Amino acid sequence: MDELLVIKDLEKTFQMNQMNDEKKIIGCKGINLTIRTGEFVGITGESGAGKSTILKSIYRTYTPTKGCIHYQSNRFGMIDLVRASDRKMIAVRKNEIGYVSQFLHAMPRITALKMVMDAIVEMGEDINIAEQKAKDILTHFRLPSALWDSFPRTFSGGEKLRLNLAKAMVKRPKLLLLDEPTASLDHQSKQSVKEMIIQLKKEGTTMIGIFHDLDFMEEVVDQSYMLANGQMEKRLMTHG
Ligand SMILES: Nc1ncnc2c1ncn2[C@@H]1O[C@H](COP(=O)(O)OP(=O)(O)OP(=O)(O)O)[C@@H](O)[C@H]1O
Ligand SMILES: [Mg+2]
Repeated sequence: MDELLVIKDLEKTFQMNQMNDEKKIIGCKGINLTIRTGEFVGITGESGAGKSTILKSIYRTYTPTKGCIHYQSNRFGMIDLVRASDRKMIAVRKNEIGYVSQFLHAMPRITALKMVMDAIVEMGEDINIAEQKAKDILTHFRLPSALWDSFPRTFSGGEKLRLNLAKAMVKRPKLLLLDEPTASLDHQSKQSVKEMIIQLKKEGTTMIGIFHDLDFMEEVVDQSYMLANGQMEKRLMTHG
């Protein structure tokens, strides 16, 4: 089958040391999920349910405690992202798997345009083509051209988010992980995120997205889950 990602019994626990007291916090537990190429999987669930932990485990920001994440890589064939070497993870992150964080971390001291261009150039694209693609996607996300030559450090929250989305999406990754990509955006910006998701899906990108409100994404979502009590419960879809 054309399964791109198969998660089996994934668990991440955090060992906390508080005043000589060993304490375990469960990030996520017993997670099973199969995603076929081209699918869009939506996940909702209350705060602290473990949604971000799942995405960070796939991207290997977190090393899972248990389970496996089989991923069909272009370059390496079938690999387990839980156990793959750092060298393979770096290559896969550069060329195949994209991730947009829920939080807006410190931005590098380069201009917004350069940030997006670099993301394409590191995949081996010609600089002039990279510049055109970067400008096109920044325009799509309605980031004012007056900001293109500025440092993103001073951007508003929504501007930083849209820049991060542009940087990840311009690469047309094989698998894209989106952690609340529409949170805190106005309706018009949310709409442009949704349009870009539809565009990427047409071009074959497989995506997992965490959303507060999955109804907004209803026409795009192929499988949807609610994460509760550490379990993934399949949500019934009202369309299709
Ligand atoms: N690095 C960490 N160290 C310790 N505990 C963590 C860490 N990351 C996550 N957790 C804990 O794991 C649980 C799940 O966190 P996670 O961030 O995955 O939730 P979430 O579903 O994404 O929530 P939100 O909707 O608020 O973003 C929480 O109880 C959280 O405190
Ligand atoms: Mg989260």
